[in-house]
Amino acid sequence: MAVSEIIARRKSIRTYRPDVEISDAQIRSLLEAAMLAPSACGMRPWEFIVVRDRAKLDAIREVHPFTGMLKTATAAIIVVANNDIKNDISGDYIPQDCAAATENILLQAVAEGLGTCWCGVFPKAEHVAGFSRLFGLEGNRVAFNVIALGVPAEEEGSRGFYEEGKVRWE
Ligand SMILES: Cc1cc2nc3c(=O)[nH]c(=O)nc-3n(C[C@H](O)[C@H](O)[C@H](O)COP(=O)(O)O)c2cc1C
Repeated sequence: MAVSEIIARRKSIRTYRPDVEISDAQIRSLLEAAMLAPSACGMRPWEFIVVRDRAKLDAIREVHPFTGMLKTATAAIIVVANNDIKNDISGDYIPQDCAAATENILLQAVAEGLGTCWCGVFPKAEHVAGFSRLFGLEGNRVAFNVIALGVPAEEEGSRGFYEEGKVRWE
């Protein structure tokens, strides 16, 4: 698939086929894509938690009210910002670094025939605290988001669209 087609096909998927597992190789390809993202000063301040355990997936729903899709998701990736990995310039850009890694995961998932839903955690303090508790995140590690993963059980197809009015050409 061409990159433009992958971008066009991505949409948030919130219903997955619980009977179809995701392979380790597929998850590995998502993580490789994540770590190929650009980051400020090349600091790569991200870390990733792969969650396959059903009890843990259900527990996430307890600490984050907008993650109902995890009921059918067969896995999730938590993108964690490690705020200790920075220099004088890069620190303020850590959320952007993590967002770039996240989008790469979403796009690679389309190439793998998988569906995803990006659920923001940071900067909501109560959600961040819930993830820290649940996954034992210590020090300056902060859950940035959780990405639901699974084989789509709903129609795929882009929701995005182009709006000329949002563009200023100079
Ligand atoms: C920063 C961010 C946080 C989001 N948080 C959630 C969330 O908590 N729960 C959810 O169901 N979707 C969440 N989404 C997905 C958006 O609702 C979705 O991307 C948007 O409606 C556009 O739809 P599309 O992804 O299908 O193009 C989030 C997306 C982003 C970028």
